[in-house]
Amino acid sequence: QPPQSETLRTPIVAVLGHVDHGKTSLLDKVRGSAVSEGEAGAITQHIGATAVPLETVSSMAGSLVDPDDFDLPGLLFIDTPGHHSFSTLRSRGGALADIAILVVDVNDGFQPQTVEALDILKRTGTPFVVAANKVDTTPGWNPQDGSPIKPSYDGQSDRARQMLDTNLYEIIGQLSDEGLSADLYWRVQNFQKNIGVIPVSALTGEGIPDLLAVLMGLSQRYMKAEMAVDIAGPGAGTVLEVKEERGFGATLDVVLYDGTVREGDTIVVGGTNGPIITEIRALLQPQPLAEIRTEKRFERVDEVKAAAGVKIAAPDLDAAMAGAPVRVVRSRDTDEVIRDVQAEL
Ligand code: GTP
Ligand code: MG
Repeated sequence: QPPQSETLRTPIVAVLGHVDHGKTSLLDKVRGSAVSEGEAGAITQHIGATAVPLETVSSMAGSLVDPDDFDLPGLLFIDTPGHHSFSTLRSRGGALADIAILVVDVNDGFQPQTVEALDILKRTGTPFVVAANKVDTTPGWNPQDGSPIKPSYDGQSDRARQMLDTNLYEIIGQLSDEGLSADLYWRVQNFQKNIGVIPVSALTGEGIPDLLAVLMGLSQRYMKAEMAVDIAGPGAGTVLEVKEERGFGATLDVVLYDGTVREGDTIVVGGTNGPIITEIRALLQPQPLAEIRTEKRFERVDEVKAAAGVKIAAPDLDAAMAGAPVRVVRSRDTDEVIRDVQAEL
């Protein structure tokens, strides 16, 4: 008998890939923002989370996503850095993910952090699709802003299409070298056996409807059982970052992947000097479609349900650790929760 509050939570989608291959730009296109432009040297140095509600997914994907076909509430995207020095953040993003997008610059093909990201996905057994990004840079490309990729691809000159094909088959070959069978996504029948490669452009938005439709479709089809959680149960999450916030002191940016957190809840968080036990003073949430990492305006809320990015303000968080688990105690025995947190450190 499942608990009464069993509900489908938002799947967590990690975006991984080599530096500059367009991860943040792809998310910018989806949320209609310009986070990439504000980054020093356009290099992502943190991990971030953005909630995209089903209505937004379906309005971007047009006829490819009919909201009536889905009962998942949307997608929670986790952006990760591609620069080689941030491998811990990539692993953390991979570990949180239910599903992932491996972003590959269609001209550059596989690069060292592409392979590293692929190893993370293999190790964690995370299903993923490949977004072959920057198709608009193909010489002679005739852009069709926001279009699904098939009509856009079919509408190119023979020469442009052949050049893109050469690059796409290079990527499919590189996946094969890594022991993975892959094909252009519209030829894939069974996404559990074959990796779908989706040509996209973060600049023109071409192929983004397809990317969103495939992510929603795969989540709905293969992950519904995992997404069914006791949403009212005690919350569980991972600390992305520990940040000073004016008026609140040290706060936690958390990705909540299970249950609910409420203001006033006692939580246990992994810290450098052992587990920290504290009480939530405030829960701050970025607006839908805003990136928790860069958002400056937060809404104070009473409770947050998984999956979501949330900022937790509480006393004594100075020694909390990025990457550490966060657990709500609620009606459980505090010592038991402390042991759970220690076991995960
Ligand atoms: P890191 O987070 O540092 O790993 O980089 P990233 O993968 O997030 O790349 P980012 O989105 O910052 O993009 C890097 C550069 O590529 C920027 O100058 C973008 O404008 C450009 N770019 C990204 N996607 C596209 C695309 O589809 N087409 C074109 N022409 N340029 C793109
Ligand atoms: Mg980035």
